[in-house]
Amino acid sequence: MIKYLFKPRSIAVIGASKNPKKIGYKLLNNILGSGYQGNTYPVNPKGGKILGRKVIKSLDGIPEPIDVAVIAVPAAKVMVALENCAKNKVKIVSIISSGFSEIGNLEAERAITRYAKESGIRILGPNIFGHYTAEASLNATFGPSLIQEGNVAIITQSGALGVAMIGKTSVQNIGLSAIVSVGNKADIDESDLLEYLIDSDRTKIILIYVEGIQQGERLVQILKHATMIKPIVMIKSGRSKRGAIAAASHTGSLAGADEVFDSIMRQCGVFRAESVQDALNWCKFLSTSPVAKGENTLIVTNGGGVGVLATDASEKFGVKLYDDTSHLYEMFRSVTHGFGSTKNPVDLTGSASAEEYMDALNTALIDDNINSVIGLYCETAMMTSKQLSIMVKKVYNRYKEQGKPIIFSIFGGELTEKSITDLNRENVPVFRDVYEAVSCLGVLHKQFRANIMEPEEDYLDDSIDFKRIYSISKKVHKEGRHFLLAHEGHALLKAAGLQGPRNETARSISEAIKIAEKIGYPLVMKVVSRDILHKSDVGGVLLNLENQQEVMDAYQTIIHNCKTYKNNARIDGMEIVEQVDTGMEVIIGGRRDKIFGPIIMFGLGGIYVEVMKDVSFRALPIGRREARMMIKEIKSYPLLLGVRGEPRRDIEGIVDVIMKVGAILQHSPDISDIEINPLMVYQQGQGVKAVDTRVLMAEKEKMIS
Ligand code: COA
Repeated sequence: MIKYLFKPRSIAVIGASKNPKKIGYKLLNNILGSGYQGNTYPVNPKGGKILGRKVIKSLDGIPEPIDVAVIAVPAAKVMVALENCAKNKVKIVSIISSGFSEIGNLEAERAITRYAKESGIRILGPNIFGHYTAEASLNATFGPSLIQEGNVAIITQSGALGVAMIGKTSVQNIGLSAIVSVGNKADIDESDLLEYLIDSDRTKIILIYVEGIQQGERLVQILKHATMIKPIVMIKSGRSKRGAIAAASHTGSLAGADEVFDSIMRQCGVFRAESVQDALNWCKFLSTSPVAKGENTLIVTNGGGVGVLATDASEKFGVKLYDDTSHLYEMFRSVTHGFGSTKNPVDLTGSASAEEYMDALNTALIDDNINSVIGLYCETAMMTSKQLSIMVKKVYNRYKEQGKPIIFSIFGGELTEKSITDLNRENVPVFRDVYEAVSCLGVLHKQFRANIMEPEEDYLDDSIDFKRIYSISKKVHKEGRHFLLAHEGHALLKAAGLQGPRNETARSISEAIKIAEKIGYPLVMKVVSRDILHKSDVGGVLLNLENQQEVMDAYQTIIHNCKTYKNNARIDGMEIVEQVDTGMEVIIGGRRDKIFGPIIMFGLGGIYVEVMKDVSFRALPIGRREARMMIKEIKSYPLLLGVRGEPRRDIEGIVDVIMKVGAILQHSPDISDIEINPLMVYQQGQGVKAVDTRVLMAEKEKMIS
């Protein structure tokens, strides 16, 4: 169905107008001026002629079924227009009109969505500027008339930004294969469009601007597949808290927490840009550059300072610098003079002439150890801007012919600036800022890594007793509780094959002593009560119990503390728990996210999670490789590898727990949250222990009975 949006055989403009100031006129003018070969029908009850075309008074008068009807009448009249579309068997309507959910008019939006669904019509919008598709040479927008054709497809939720991007891409010489405004996404959303664009040969790169996502689980599935086929660049507004509020009220859809969104997009292989400029730079570079065949990169410079800047930028953007110094010496000693450096960055010094530059870059071109090159140039008196332009263009063309990526960053005065503008016009990737240049190469290399990565096998842990977990949660559900008691939490861990501290529940002091002697000291005692969720906060947990006397005292103290907190609190007993050896404390939490469904979080415990918020997230399901990546992603990861004489920790043990918590959450819809905090992580090979587990139940309506 979506293919008709990109390749419609016929199009109607409902609300076409003679008045050049009206949107209905601009739309028709753009369609007629864009070279579209299909039939175009202006529709307006007044009839007559617009732009030389006979106006049809009503859709009934159109002799063929319409693939796309663009609706540009006020919101209150959209339903009637839609009813006429249904009679004509229109396939897709593109509703330009504003005045729906974006201003709180949810009722009207729901009504048209419901009606369209019942009638088998797909809706693009409402509240959009339309769409352009190079496949049909069709500009069905009320934006600029001229759109440069190319291989970048843009999907945008923001109308104004989208229209501006048409102009901006044209100025920057970025050709478009499509631009689709999705607006309120009443029906067609980014996922529907991606499904089509992934397989479209006209599109090499997809740029998405989103403010909020409604069906995150579906989007994740599609993105994971799509990014293995072509690069996807995303700009999502709402990074800052204030930005998120603005975005939410703007589109009428809620944006997910940015940290979750960021991690999940990385998991999907999406390149998230912080600014529109970065996104456009990446799109242009990816659309014109040869693909990388490896990651070894060489920097060639005539200035030490910019060389260092590029080295820093390479670290930041994950660009791997080639560092075989003896090979580099052999390659570049003849062009570096006595003062330069043959190490990477290869420094030709300020005395380098255009010929020497060319020599050095050509040497890098023919060397198979080097896969891509960053050419840096600071203006000197050794080269005129004309010589510079000629040299850069020649080198770039040779690299392009040979299929090796190269990117330049050039710094200088007025004439140099002009050279940059001219070179950009000819699509030579030259940047004024070193970081902008290197970030483009970073994205190219990320795509290279994505392309060579084997898809991960689905993971199934058959050691998890899901039947047992189901019966535990069913019992809790029956009792109307929304959390598991300690012994139920332990039973759940056991059913999942996870190791926790040894423990038993005592119903009396004498039983507590018996259990204590069996487990051995030191011990922890915790109250078991359905009326107390945060046990430590009310004095319901005592640590370091060393002997029988302390066990007896603790039992009475905890009862006293709990009764003081809540006089009628039901106390089901005391949990006597082995006090586990200290290890490195980490936290693993799984929950059902409103947007992305089941997700999992990992972080180091204590201040790392509370103060630094140093955590990573993934949308489930994930395989072991992805679990390892999420562990590596946190900033404090080196602590797990062992620093200052500390041992390396059992990282595979953490991976096991992530996989199991993920599997439980995914296969138990009645459980909403599982948090293991802390999970003690011992030395490599010595495993992990889940010290405390909190399990919450899903809201009743989402539960299975
Ligand atoms: N079928 C066909 N034509 C109809 C019609 C129907 N059922 N009902 C009305 N019309 C005609 C009108 O007579 C008028 O033609 P005319 O100029 O010959 O009189 C034309 O459709 C447009 O209707 P009009 O009432 O003049 O509306 P408008 O052009 O002032 O505004 C919108 C219509 C859709 C542009 C406006 O309501 C709107 O939503 N604007 C915001 C659009 C926007 O910003 N979108 C988001 C961008 S990101």
